[in-house]
Amino acid sequence: MTPAVLIAAASAAAHHAHAPYSQFGVGAAVLLDDDTVITGANLENASYGLSLCAETVALATANAQGRLRDVVAITVIGGAIGADGAITGTAPIRPCGRCRQILAEAAQLGGRDILIHCAAAEGDFYETRTLSELLPDAFGPADIGMV
Ligand code: THU
Repeated sequence: MTPAVLIAAASAAAHHAHAPYSQFGVGAAVLLDDDTVITGANLENASYGLSLCAETVALATANAQGRLRDVVAITVIGGAIGADGAITGTAPIRPCGRCRQILAEAAQLGGRDILIHCAAAEGDFYETRTLSELLPDAFGPADIGMV
């Protein structure tokens, strides 16, 4: 599965963002070890702090399918939502800290590092990082006496 395919899936999901408060649409596409792709979009709430990131939504969906341990990569894309619904922006979108911690749980379950493709809404630019690069020395089960 190429990053371009995952970026296309994440971009399509971003257009389903419920983001009336920030007007910032984000899509995520999680790749599983059998090439299944699970998407998510950010889901905002009038009680702002309850908003869910696209990555969290996609990872929770993977979990609901019993597949959290099978996550090998995630692609994130997003930008400002215009009046015409178009999403624009030239900066690659990187997962927030909470999403990185949730990714760490999937990585620990699967016993692998996770690739993170961070894409910009406009153009073909993306950068690839690993979770261990974006969240070194992560807090995990071992820190609470498990494993
Ligand atoms: N957002 C995501 O969905 N993923 C990220 O990695 C960063 C931020 C969302 C949360 C909120 O709905 C909007 O983008 C603006 O912060």
